[in-house]
Amino acid sequence: MNLEKLCNEVKELARSTGEYLKTEQTVLRKRDIELKSTRNYVTYIDKEAERRLVEGLSRLLPEAGFLTEEETVGFEQKEYTWIIDPLDGTTNYVHGDSPFSVSIALMKENEIILGVVYDPLAAQMYSATGAGKVFLNDNPVRVSGQSTLTNGYIGFGIPYSLDERGEQILRNAMKQFRKCSFRIKGSAALEICYIAAGVCDAYFHSGLSPWDVAAGAFILQCAGGKCSDFSGGDNYIFNKELVASNGIIHQEIMETIIQGN
Ligand code: IPD
Ligand code: CA
Ligand code: CA
Repeated sequence: MNLEKLCNEVKELARSTGEYLKTEQTVLRKRDIELKSTRNYVTYIDKEAERRLVEGLSRLLPEAGFLTEEETVGFEQKEYTWIIDPLDGTTNYVHGDSPFSVSIALMKENEIILGVVYDPLAAQMYSATGAGKVFLNDNPVRVSGQSTLTNGYIGFGIPYSLDERGEQILRNAMKQFRKCSFRIKGSAALEICYIAAGVCDAYFHSGLSPWDVAAGAFILQCAGGKCSDFSGGDNYIFNKELVASNGIIHQEIMETIIQGN
């Protein structure tokens, strides 16, 4: 498999799907917005974008299966799996806000080997095919050198189903409010990429799904960053626990925000 060529084709697909999202946002009507649960929105656009991605990606790699948020196609265990979120940041999207993104990862057995995240409003395409092979548009990127939480620029999100553990982590973060700047941007896939590009230093979130995390986490690791679950282990794609960072401040985030020491 020629990964670089495939990555370029995936980027084109992400770009055209992103253009579709961008155009549709300008004509979205209130009656097109549905709720999956309290404050968890979905529209026909999420589903149509996913159908377009599934069709295009199936053409690129007919032997691959899919794991998708909107389940327009069923999951099947295959050697290759596309993990996709057609519209990450739907809450921003339905409020006419930004950012939002298209997120696509390719998994071979249990390893991610390709990641693409596209922000159509900012025309920012993050992509990676391996260590050091990570780009924002055509420019190589690397994580920041921020070494302490003090004066750090830290992203996080509030899960749709906030449990006791997630709430405790938010309370722990609150104790750091005087130390560093926190941001909620509303598109997990992009917020993880911001760390890859050295814009942001870390991000934490409980309750995320594989399609929110897979592409961004791979892109971040290719740029020299680190991802872990809340125990410091590797189960951050499927376990609904993510700490992502430039690597240098990972331990401090684990101790203060996750463990609450
Ligand atoms: C959501 C976004 C948001 C995060 C949520 C995700 P969606 O994805 O990534 O930033 O806080 O937990 O579910 O629903 O917009 O695809
Ligand atoms: Ca999402
Ligand atoms: Ca989504």
